[in-house]
Formats: sequence, C-alpha cells, structure tokens
Amino acid sequence: MSALDKLKINGIIPVVVINDAKKAEKLAKAVIAGGLNCLEITLRTEAAIDAIRLIKDKYPNLIIGAGTVLTKAQLNTALSAGADFIVSPAVNEELIEYCVQNDIDIYPGCSTPTDIAASIKYGLKTLKFYPCELSGGLKALRSFASTYPDIKFIPTGGINANNVADYLLEKNVVACGGSWLVPSNLIDEEDFSKIEELVKAAVYAMFGFKL
Ligand code: 3PG
Repeated sequence: MSALDKLKINGIIPVVVINDAKKAEKLAKAVIAGGLNCLEITLRTEAAIDAIRLIKDKYPNLIIGAGTVLTKAQLNTALSAGADFIVSPAVNEELIEYCVQNDIDIYPGCSTPTDIAASIKYGLKTLKFYPCELSGGLKALRSFASTYPDIKFIPTGGINANNVADYLLEKNVVACGGSWLVPSNLIDEEDFSKIEELVKAAVYAMFGFKL
C-alpha cells in the first residue's frame, strides 16, 4: 500500500511544530493511541529532523511526512531521517521535478489554478490545498473539482473539528491536514493525554460525531 493510500485511510494528518525532539516519541504514542497513524512534522524548528528520525525508529509503520520543505537540502535530510512524504507550502518546481524523478511523494501547497497547473505538468495528481480556508475553502475545492476532475487535494490551513467532516465529504479530498489536534503548547507542556483526547475527538469529528 502506498503512503498516499495510508493517508487516505487515516483521513486526517496532524501537522506538528515540535520544539524538543525528546518529546517526539511520546507525541507519536499519543497520536497512535488517539486513533491516527500519520503525522506531518514541519521543518520549522531545529528539533524537527531528529523528531522524524526518533519517531520512525520507534514506530516504523507510522506514516510520517516532512512539512514546510523549502529546499532540496532539507528534502534530502528529511528523507534520510525516514520521512515517507514531503509537503511544501508553495509550488517549488525544482523540488517537484526532483521528487517526481526520484519517485518521492510530494504534496506542494496550491491555492490557485495557476499553482495547480504548475504542479500537474509534472504528473502530480494529489496536491495540498493551502491555505485552505483563506483561499476559498469548500467553494474553491468545488470549483477545482469541475476544472480539474482528476486532481485530489489535502486541504490544510484553518481545518478544525467543526469543519473537517465537511471537507472529507468532498469528492476531490483525500485527507485533511491541521495543527488543531497537536498544539505546540501542549507538546511543550508534555500534556500528551490532552493530545490523545484531541486526536480522538478529531477522529470522531471525521465521521461527523462530537465527543
Ligand atoms: C500547515 O503548516 O500546513 C499549516 O500551518 C497548518 O494550518 P493550521 O495551523 O491552520 O491547521
């Protein structure tokens, strides 16, 4: 099964900003206990690469993405640490071309038809829709569904327990990303039981229920 198929089964990708790699394993444990088996660790902190490595060593079946990848050097470091997929906030054609040539899953952040066109010329079929809510949310996704019926999206940016189920009902959405279930302050405070609760609530919300 591909990483993308596994992301589809999960439905929600927790987007993490981690300040201390020592907290990575406990974070992953809480996410798994909450009912999800994937994570995106953003490369916005120095701890991110070590966090990817530690989580992958401990939980090799957890699908882990490197987020906020801006350069080829970051991309290669993330892959060496064990990242299964790459997420970038914008369309970086150099990164896309490299990933396509080397059979690496990449989801570039797209918010306009121009971004989509620039990405799909490399053969990509799944894109991050970012920043989703700011860029038209459900209305924009529906419009993309008519103009680009073969292209699927991972909406991220402004997704939360109240709107995730609506996004997942869209035919061109494979999964949603969001930070609401893994807030950095809770990771810093090591409140992993609260994170587990938030992940459980997110999994319930995915099916339209509230805890
Ligand atoms: C991302 O990195 O993809 C976004 O910052 C996540 O957006 P959110 O914080 O609104 O969930």
